Amino acid sequence: MTQLQIKPFDPQTASQAEFEAYNAFVNQIQAEMWPEDPPTELEELIRGLRSTPPFVVRRRWVVWCDKKIVARGVATFWRTEDNQHLLNFDIAVLPEWRRQGWAKRLLRLIADVAQQEKRRLLMTGTDSAIPAGEAFMRRLGAQPGQANLTNQLNLAELDRELLRRWQERAPKDEFELGLWEGPYPEEELDAIVRLREVMNTAPRDNLEIEDFKWTREQLRQIEASLAEQKTERWTMYVREKKTRNLAGYTEVFWSAFEPETLYQGDTGVFPEYRGRGLGKWLKAAMLEKILRDRPQVKRVRTGNANSNAPMLKINYELGFRPYKRWTTWQVELEKVLEYLRSSPA
Ligand SMILES: CC(C)(COP(=O)(O)OP(=O)(O)OC[C@H]1O[C@@H](n2cnc3c(N)ncnc32)[C@H](O)[C@@H]1OP(=O)(O)O)[C@@H](O)C(=O)NCCC(=O)NCCS
Repeated sequence: MTQLQIKPFDPQTASQAEFEAYNAFVNQIQAEMWPEDPPTELEELIRGLRSTPPFVVRRRWVVWCDKKIVARGVATFWRTEDNQHLLNFDIAVLPEWRRQGWAKRLLRLIADVAQQEKRRLLMTGTDSAIPAGEAFMRRLGAQPGQANLTNQLNLAELDRELLRRWQERAPKDEFELGLWEGPYPEEELDAIVRLREVMNTAPRDNLEIEDFKWTREQLRQIEASLAEQKTERWTMYVREKKTRNLAGYTEVFWSAFEPETLYQGDTGVFPEYRGRGLGKWLKAAMLEKILRDRPQVKRVRTGNANSNAPMLKINYELGFRPYKRWTTWQVELEKVLEYLRSSPA
């Protein structure tokens, strides 16, 4: 009988053959979760694995069956001033290896990291495409913290007349629109640190998350990571002319490895500037730029909390449609340890 072995997987020292095995594993899980998407290329995978910013700590383990990887566990935590109670994890097992205790064994290693790092709350996500994820979470005693949707816009169906109207209607006498392509400008960095805090006003539902307090250093580390991944970021912002305050922004990410799909990231407008069409202006202007400067893009994908009515309203008016559902779960470390004691692998 083949011996299965759990071993750490370190992208800084992995061999070409190990990366190839990891890539085959990732593509098999991806085909189950995102059946319409193309597989991840080896170079894209390696760049992704090696681009973790220094403030993010990530530990990985894989289960080897001879030369094949059949399961993987990841523990991630941030060395930041905020959210020191949190540890994120991700476990995946190939379908033919499920229900044999591999997730439980990987969870043991993840719980060890949480104990060492004194992280009391564990978070993860499950995808509706694989219902076993939810069953595992319920078995652990995890609670759903937030229900989410991936929404997708088919650019061929985009109503250009709507884009024109939303931009025409914008309060241009009081506000101006601007664009940062790639890294943020040094002279604006402190203002951008403050601007990004607007995302702390997005709904968190039951998730026990503290406000994120970005630093200049973290933002630069994220940019270095994007460069390593060959991902290009565009940020559009609105500024109030009178005060020179930044009122809101929207960001998108594009990579030549996946040229047909563009990812819509944050969009936020500070509460005092809401209800004046700035969110619609930002989104419409960005979509127009995408149509003009990235003709290869066929679809825009974004994640939204089900509870985020204002963002969903804008997205659905633009023609985004629900593509899939997923859930963010949270569970106390104590509960995980209790489960592991009661049901040893
Ligand atoms: C969820 C997943 C990791 C489980 O892997 P696995 O190796 O089959 O899980 P295990 O065999 O270690 O089972 C752990 C416990 O969950 C239960 N469980 C797992 N899958 C289940 C299912 N489909 N239905 C009911 N219970 C299930 C097991 O019975 C076991 O309980 P026990 O301790 O009482 O015996 C796997 O289905 C998967 O890869 N899903 C896709 C990724 C995902 O959603 N991950 C979860 C977020 S981290």
